[in-house]
Amino acid sequence: MTAADKPGEDIQKEVLKKIKPSDEEKRKLFMVVDELLEKATDTARKMDIDIGRAMLVGSAARGTWISGTHDLDIFISFPEETSREELEESGLLISREIAKDAEAFEERYAEHPYLNMRYRGFDVDLVPCFAVNSASCIKSAVDRTPFHNSFVKEHIDELQDEVLLLKQLMKGTGVYGSELRTQGFSGYLAELLIIHYGSFKDVVSDACEWKPGMVIDLLGHGTAKHEEPLVVVDPTDPGRNVAAALSVDKFARFIEICRSYLDRPSLEFFFPKPQKPLNDDEISGIIEERGSSFLAIVFKTPDLVEDVLYPQLDKMEISVKALLEQYEFTVINSGTWSGEDSVVVIELLSSALPLVKKHHGPPIWVRDHSQGFRSKYEGADETFALYIEDGRYVADIRRKFPTAREVLENRLTDCSMGKQLSKAVKKEHMILENKQLCNIRDADFRVFMRKWQKNGIP
Ligand code: CTP
Ligand code: MG
Repeated sequence: MTAADKPGEDIQKEVLKKIKPSDEEKRKLFMVVDELLEKATDTARKMDIDIGRAMLVGSAARGTWISGTHDLDIFISFPEETSREELEESGLLISREIAKDAEAFEERYAEHPYLNMRYRGFDVDLVPCFAVNSASCIKSAVDRTPFHNSFVKEHIDELQDEVLLLKQLMKGTGVYGSELRTQGFSGYLAELLIIHYGSFKDVVSDACEWKPGMVIDLLGHGTAKHEEPLVVVDPTDPGRNVAAALSVDKFARFIEICRSYLDRPSLEFFFPKPQKPLNDDEISGIIEERGSSFLAIVFKTPDLVEDVLYPQLDKMEISVKALLEQYEFTVINSGTWSGEDSVVVIELLSSALPLVKKHHGPPIWVRDHSQGFRSKYEGADETFALYIEDGRYVADIRRKFPTAREVLENRLTDCSMGKQLSKAVKKEHMILENKQLCNIRDADFRVFMRKWQKNGIP
């Protein structure tokens, strides 16, 4: 069979050449890992702290890391009966000691504190966990990870290259990552898909036919019903969906990517050309061409971890849209972007409405209410006309906020948008309209604005 008979075969080979760690890279990685594991055990012994063991988990442990991505997840496991306080305290004590030799380090907080450091060029997480008996009786969210590790290592066979290809396709097309910012596919999910289907090619061709409600249960042991579009039952925990973080849009996007890739495979899916920021003329051009109205709310980004920031931005976007709709403005599209500043962009059919607003009253035969309505609006300054339509009173009255800007100026701070965001917006914000969006100079924002252009869907 020639390469032409197998679409993408040559391309996949070329991709692998770029992303498969070399023997030298592997050697260096394992040298650093050995050193860290030894340090962890030694330190615990010297401090007389009882740890189960220190172990490497994540893609480095499974041979599924992409060359050049140097993150190491080192777990320090404590006996199950250790109290949470003790685990946190001892975990940090050991980690701080190891971090004495680091280029830089920082203590971070997820469900419990852990330490992140730059160590010999690697981005290392030192994470304490409980050594529980099974992934279905975990004491903290990270306790599952060692079970994932064992499962993948046992079942991955010789399929590491297939995982690498799938991960790179997902990375290149923006659907890789299960954090709340991306709501895409995690590394573990990619690994399970490969184990289930047996190859990159088979994942991609099967995904072309996926529909919401798709269930993959490798061990046939699922116990719970899930509502998410894709359900991949965790082989190590029958009640959990590994794809729980995948949004319906990223699910749909992946299906589309797979179809386009099979139609016309190209390297660009894996390594997209960087998108150029739009210049002022291009931004103004888009707005003019579409003939709609753009509004942007700009404020300083509060200092928050991404998993807190992005959900708050989503919440703000939804409530700002609802506010504008409440005042009869029609939203066509919207989006959020965050860098040093954060921006919520809303596109409206029009940002100005006529001064007159139709206000519906009660049916005439509800005597009390209709008389109350009539006496309020008849002859009032704000009334243009009062009449009967379909048996009810209708008053054409003066609109309170005829422009979207006025709505935002008066009501924005009432929108629900999460505690920290709300504080930042109250402190200071700017509202920009149409071409004023060009005042936002950030290059990454100007890439984000491509959302409104002929977009990059391959
Ligand atoms: N993990 C998880 N659920 C997540 C994120 C992580 O269960 N949403 C667990 C997985 O077992 C994963 C490990 O934590 O393997 C390390 O996480 P991470 O570094 O994010 O993923 P990797 O699998 O190492 O993939 P990558 O190559 O992207 O680092
Ligand atoms: Mg990792």
